[in-house]
Amino acid sequence: MEPIRFADILFIFLTLAITFTILWFVKKAKRKPQQTPEDNQSESSESVNPEKKEDLSMLTSNGFSFPEFNPDCSSLLCRHLSKQTFEELKNKITGNGFTFYQAIKSGIVNQDSSVGVYAGDAESYPLFSPLFDPIIADYHGFSSTDTHRSDLDPKNLSAVNPDPDGQFILSTRIRVGRNVAEMPLGPAVSREQRNSIEVQVSDSLRNLSGELSGTYYPLLGMDETVQNQLIADHFLFKAGDRFLDAAGLNRDWPEGRGIFHNREKTFLVWVNEEDQLRIISMQQGGDIEAVFSRLMKAVKEIEKSVAFMFDRRLGYLTSCPSNLGTAMRASVHIRLPKLAADMATFKKITDAHHLQIRGIHGEHSESESGVFDVSNRRRLGVTEVECVQDMYNGVVALIRGEKELE
Ligand code: ADP
Ligand code: ARG
Repeated sequence: MEPIRFADILFIFLTLAITFTILWFVKKAKRKPQQTPEDNQSESSESVNPEKKEDLSMLTSNGFSFPEFNPDCSSLLCRHLSKQTFEELKNKITGNGFTFYQAIKSGIVNQDSSVGVYAGDAESYPLFSPLFDPIIADYHGFSSTDTHRSDLDPKNLSAVNPDPDGQFILSTRIRVGRNVAEMPLGPAVSREQRNSIEVQVSDSLRNLSGELSGTYYPLLGMDETVQNQLIADHFLFKAGDRFLDAAGLNRDWPEGRGIFHNREKTFLVWVNEEDQLRIISMQQGGDIEAVFSRLMKAVKEIEKSVAFMFDRRLGYLTSCPSNLGTAMRASVHIRLPKLAADMATFKKITDAHHLQIRGIHGEHSESESGVFDVSNRRRLGVTEVECVQDMYNGVVALIRGEKELE
């Protein structure tokens, strides 16, 4: 038998070493879970919370599984997310690392949602369009051939105070949502980006003059009593909204958030709530034209120093698809005790005029003492003037309906 040569031993040793190295890498790759949707969140984003059953049940090593919806779930998400659309979108991620899972998480966690989805950035709209487009069409009555329209001219609005004696309308408020161009939207913005938006926007607001001049009050360090009073008086957003929470919109709270207002609190700007700016004009009574004119003036002024995120088809881009387009909600707080006792008639009138009914402490709140928040529902495919005209026409019809029941 030939003696084993050193070269043979070396050859066998090297072959074994290479084989073991390959096997080790294969095993390691198999063990490493595939990237889950949550892995793509930025450092400051919330991560999967093992306490929350809904998170874990969704996530598998292969992305995530089709969500289980309650039988009574009626959100636009439940209605439009088919298994086929889910398979098409489940592993899609925008350039900012915003995943499809993040887009639909709020509607899964909150099965009583009305919409149920949020966009993380401008790219979310085209990327998740197989789900977002039917939702947008359903909410706004906006077809694939429709496009955003705009009319900011108060002269084109015909809305003389429908309640000059102040019998029904307590107050009028009109707001638009805006986000900063070239930034991710709130659900995907990083802490640093959010803070830089706060600086940019508050600097811009400091330059406003006349009726619009005011002061910026950061939420961080705000006295709790002052904060609660501002909320109770309908000027400031509430903390801890569970819909926003699940969408990642409350991360790093309260840092980066705040409110600007003039002395009379007729012109206000919310910074870094659901949208990066909510520009608001409001006052007691039913002078809708005055409220609209003030808002249009403010929007034009702010636009001189802050570029807003805009899309030719979808208009002003917002984190919730229900706010796209004009991003305008024009509302009155209106006392209608007779119609309150006859909700079928109330709803018939509001539906005919494309109006939405909310409670008096904002969305998802209840009405009190026969007082409701009544506002335009559609915001995309209709102009700003038409949004307010919808609200005005509906309010006139509601007042007539209330009087008929007296
Ligand atoms: P948004 O209009 O920005 O979508 P909400 O429905 O949560 O937000 O309302 C925000 C705040 O504005 C709440 O405190 C709500 O009571 C107040 N508000 C809405 N409409 C009016 C109004 N016409 N008069 C006074 N306050 C209003
Ligand atoms: N995500 C919440 C829901 O689906 C709010 C939807 C519309 N309102 C809003 N503020 N974006 O009920």
